[in-house]
Parts: sequence; structure tokens; C-alpha cells
Amino acid sequence: MCDMKILRYIAKQGGMKESVRLSTKDISSEIKKSPQTISRKLRELESEGMISRRISPEGQWIVITERGERALRKEYEDYRRIFEVPEVFTMRGRVFTGLGEGRYYLSLEGYKSQISKITGFDPYPGTLNLKISPEDLETRKKLAKKPGYEIKGFETEGRSFGGCKLFKGEIEGESCAVVIPERTHYPEDILEIVAPVNLRERLRLRDGDIVKVKVVA
Ligand code: CDP
Repeated sequence: MCDMKILRYIAKQGGMKESVRLSTKDISSEIKKSPQTISRKLRELESEGMISRRISPEGQWIVITERGERALRKEYEDYRRIFEVPEVFTMRGRVFTGLGEGRYYLSLEGYKSQISKITGFDPYPGTLNLKISPEDLETRKKLAKKPGYEIKGFETEGRSFGGCKLFKGEIEGESCAVVIPERTHYPEDILEIVAPVNLRERLRLRDGDIVKVKVVA
């Protein structure tokens, strides 16, 4: 875990946009830790790839790297989730059969474990596909812009699998989650639902049935 306090301070001084001149002493008096401690923590941040530093005759120049920005953004999103009142997105969609890929993806530990950790349930191996009704397409687009929970991409058996966003919700009263792949060409009128149970069986669904799904973001 890197020192977010120092990273935040550097960002507040403008270090996310450009190199800023900050002495170890300045940071030390702001963070209220000894210059030796700050010096060590800066070295750690640097070796973790969160910042990069340059020493010039005028002093120490620090800039936050992309990795550092990601760490800050993650913290920002955690706080947003804590303080913001969640918005409810309600959409209707028609059940359809896909290409059987959901079952494969959900058999991968890389996705399964991340989904379980966020939702608290072990996902049934597969995704229920919904084609969103035309009147709810705007809602679907708005949802896709929300940060949601991040499911990270990973590599296994020489293949790489992309990241997605996850939103918790319910479908006809059953707990579920919506996953939206981060792929650029993913269709904007489709939702894929994961749930702890087989939803077709539980809700007696067949292709063509219209269901209501509610998610919070
Ligand atoms: O074949 P398709 O791509 O539609 O589905 P899949 O993702 O491979 O999932 C296998 C089957 O389980 C499909 O019929 C899904 O609709 C269904 N399913 C379900 O009823 N409930 C879930 N929670 C997940 C999948």
C-alpha cells in the first residue's frame, strides 16, 4: 500500500498535470512526518512507479505517473461510493440466447473470483442476455458511463481477457449484477446479467420474454 497522503498532497500542488517543485521539507511539514520518513516514502512511491522525480539545481521536481493517477482515482471512486446517493437505473429487456460465451467466461477463475468478491455470491456459470427495449436505451447508455465496480482484465493460458464494469442490482426481485465489458465495440443495446442462480429456471424465462432489471450506480 503506497502512501496516499503524500500522493494526494503532490496532486493538490498540481503534480498530476506537470512536474512541481516540492522539497522534502515542505512535504514533511504538511504531512507532519519527519523529513527522513518523507524521504523514504518518496523513494517507495518512486520504486512503486507512482511518481517520478528529478533533482535539479533549483530543487526536487515531482510528477505523478499514470499509475499514481490510477491509485488516486481508485480512492476518489471509493469516496464517491461512500458519499453519493446511489442512482437507480431501471430497464426492460428481451431475453435472448447468445453464443454460449458467458458460460466459458464465468468458468474462468479470473472473472469468477472478482465477481464473488464484489457481489458476495458465486455466479452461476453463464450470463443471461437481454436486448434492451428502445425506450430504455438512453438509461442503458447513461449506466455505461458510471464507474461501477471494476473487474480487472487478466491473462491465463496465453490468452488475455478484458476488463469490465459491474453494477449490483436485481432482476424481477432476484439479486443479480450487470456486467458491461470495457471493449470499445460492445453493443449499446445489450445487458448481460450474472446471478447466483440460473435465472431462466428460477424465473421460468424463455427467449422473447420481457424482464425488468434494476441496478444501482
Ligand atoms: O448461450 P448464451 O450465450 O445465451 O448463454 P451463457 O452465457 O453461456 O449461459 C448459459 C445459459 O444459462 C443460457 O441459457 C443463459 O441464458 C442461462 N443463464 C441463466 O439462466 N442464469 C444465469 N444467471 C446465467 C445464465
